[in-house]
Amino acid sequence: MFKLDRKLILSASVFTAAALFAAGCAAGGLGLSKSNSASTQVSIDGGVFHPIVDGKTGPYLVNAKALAMKLNHGRIPTANEIKAWDTDIMADGTGLPEGSGSASEGSDIYDSKCLSCHGDFAAGGGGYPALAKGNAYELKASLLSQRSEEGADGPIRVFGTYWPQASTLWWYIKDAMPHQLTDSLTHDEVYALTAYILQLNEIKIDGVLVESDYVLDRKKFLKIVMPNVDGFEPNIAGPNSLPGVRAYFANPANFGGQKVKPAERCMKNCQEPTAKINRIENGGISTFVPPMATARNLPKVESKEFNAKKSYEENCASCHATKSMGAPAIGDAKAWAANNKKGMAAVLKNGINGINGMPGKGGVNMSDEEFKLVLDYILDQSK
Ligand code: HEC
Ligand code: HEC
Repeated sequence: MFKLDRKLILSASVFTAAALFAAGCAAGGLGLSKSNSASTQVSIDGGVFHPIVDGKTGPYLVNAKALAMKLNHGRIPTANEIKAWDTDIMADGTGLPEGSGSASEGSDIYDSKCLSCHGDFAAGGGGYPALAKGNAYELKASLLSQRSEEGADGPIRVFGTYWPQASTLWWYIKDAMPHQLTDSLTHDEVYALTAYILQLNEIKIDGVLVESDYVLDRKKFLKIVMPNVDGFEPNIAGPNSLPGVRAYFANPANFGGQKVKPAERCMKNCQEPTAKINRIENGGISTFVPPMATARNLPKVESKEFNAKKSYEENCASCHATKSMGAPAIGDAKAWAANNKKGMAAVLKNGINGINGMPGKGGVNMSDEEFKLVLDYILDQSK
């Protein structure tokens, strides 16, 4: 995704590609096998094994390495196949096609194709990631904060604050979104959606704030500087990044190797890293003793203690806030006094089981004890 070793990725994906392709050929090659049946075996599911003749199968060269491994399948991919797999969009613009779209067009596309999962204004929710949380330049500061206690704010890691390169966004949308129908958007649509998401993150391009009428195209896109572009070490921007990344990782001293020369990778007795590394606050990772992970990682939890006032507001107020619904109103001492003449046991029983316009427990799934706590709250407010 970011600047990784392309060759490494390629060889991995090419291997998969070749395997898939071999399977595809086998299934599609059934017709061919008839004319050639003397030399082809048909597998139980109808697929065809193409025989290897002179180290070749079909029109393709068998991968010599695969042969050596006695895999007997796979071959060197063709240039076009590699091209089809080599779709990544690099930060320097490699792979980024021409096209254009405005933020307002993006907003329309978003509403029809993305909103169902990513929510209004890409705020996320329901388990789907937010794509924006407001002004990314301001929120960037949050990346240095660590959630140190229950309820404390953690770093905001959305596209605008965290992602160092906009190219990743373009590629991600084109390749992986919408989730249920990937690779279905035109280049113009991807530009429009990107513009809209930039707008929601309040990003400026070349000093110009991306607003609804902003038309994003390839040229402008390449001028985007994301707020967190320098937040990663080693710096992954620019055409020389790959050799830079390799050199960085080749020398453990950069990220805190052992105190020997030459530095070695280490888990203890490590030296301070020589390169700049963004440290999480609260004293930095080395001195910060985090509380128990469970407490730290759990989302904000409501107090387990039953909150009668809150339950009244959620479950009873719709009918009991005023007398207009025919229910004794909260605060109306006279009405409650009259009601309670029949004795508290009866009142409680009626409340729990329901009577006339009063649904049992107000129609809510709560225990008898909890109902009593809410009733006590109402009566307390109605003296
Ligand atoms: C059916 C639900 C669904 C729809 C529709 C959808 N997405 Fe997503 N999107 C997801 C899920 C799930 C993820 C997280 C994927 C993961 O982390 O593996 C995601 C992740 C993303 C991310 C990466 C967010 C991050 O910070 O990691 C972007 C950007 C994104 N979607 C953009 C879009 C756009 C633009 C559209 C509309 C064209 C869209 N999505 C439509 C489900 C959806
Ligand atoms: C849908 C409307 C509605 C909701 C919701 C509701 N009430 Fe009532 N409640 C009534 C009405 C109407 C009455 C008067 C019933 C009657 O005696 O005719 C009433 C009566 C009562 C009474 C007196 C019963 C009696 O006969 O003495 C109690 C106690 C009570 N409600 C408690 C609650 C509590 C606690 C909640 C929330 C958990 C709640 N109610 C939610 C409508 C509602």
